[in-house]
Amino acid sequence: MANINARILSTGRAYPEGLLTNADLEKLVETSDEWITSRTGIKQRHKAGEGEYTSQFAVRAAGQAIERARIDPSEIDLLICATVTPDQVLPSTGCLIQTELGAHRAAAFDLAAACSGFLYGLTLANQMIRGGQARYALVIGAEILTRYVDYTDRSTCVIFGDGAGAALLGPVEGERGMLATRIRSDGRLAEQLYAPGGGTRLGITADNVTTGQHYFRMKGNELFKVAVRSMADISREVLEEAGYKADDVKLFVPHQANQRITDAVASNLKVDSEIVYSNIAMHGNTSSASIPIALDECVEQGRISEGDLVLLASFGGGVTWGAVLMRW
Ligand code: ACO
Repeated sequence: MANINARILSTGRAYPEGLLTNADLEKLVETSDEWITSRTGIKQRHKAGEGEYTSQFAVRAAGQAIERARIDPSEIDLLICATVTPDQVLPSTGCLIQTELGAHRAAAFDLAAACSGFLYGLTLANQMIRGGQARYALVIGAEILTRYVDYTDRSTCVIFGDGAGAALLGPVEGERGMLATRIRSDGRLAEQLYAPGGGTRLGITADNVTTGQHYFRMKGNELFKVAVRSMADISREVLEEAGYKADDVKLFVPHQANQRITDAVASNLKVDSEIVYSNIAMHGNTSSASIPIALDECVEQGRISEGDLVLLASFGGGVTWGAVLMRW
């Protein structure tokens, strides 16, 4: 039987119109454009307005991907929405997106792996397509993180932004598509980035909301080191598994967490800075949406050509990390 992998057929992206600039943040907390720019590389992030919710942006991003692949939504067998900021607890945001898109045949669900959610989704979809259980799969990363940000906490509020990105996957034969995928997690580091409230442990009580138990808490400094090591190591693993060297990679798209993390991973892997994509200045950290948004921008800017070796790597709350190596 021919060797089948999943490949990305098309991509899409969407984000709220609302913007939060470093100058806006200077008015909210004791910070400066100089501090934020030099420590993170971020200049602005998109922020959803009242009444906007996660699936709206997911549907727009996914709709673009479906249109560009020229398939009918009813042909989609699998729909994964990677998110830690769903529309509501029940049903899954995946099911809500499915209905809006008319992807009525798809098995739809949410996947919570924070910033690694999109790469977790690609990994699962690849296996379903390889195993013949799905022909077309839609993998979406969509977040409205700003709803869980405490705008009195300067160590987190400068980082996060909102948006959605999507990729439509289909089967390909031979040495194409996803050549190697790897995902990992370590729950012992859960408290390095977490929101204590809002679930069944610390429920939605007036007291828990007033004391901000639903807001993200982050030990940024400790995460920084783990993020660099994990992303570099797992990138080397997928390269080795597929029989390639970092030099062979034409485009490296890391999760956009912090420009300093991106630079440190690139230098650890010894890849030329010219092949490393960064859009953090414009979007901040959009968690599971960051890689698919970046991929869609790369396609639009002509930074990816058919046959290029593309490396993706991520790290996020959980903690979770992963890497995907694909021949476009
Ligand atoms: N403006 C000004 N000063 C600040 C700000 C701010 N916005 N934030 C923190 N500081 C101060 C701190 O209070 C501290 O002051 P002190 O020395 O007087 O105590 C000082 O700056 C240094 O703080 P650090 O936390 O050590 O700063 P660092 O250089 O580590 O940068 C940052 C912080 C940007 C958060 C960085 O650690 C980072 O990006 N970490 C990784 C985040 C990450 O990858 N998260 C996981 C993925 S996200 C996800 O899964 C959803």
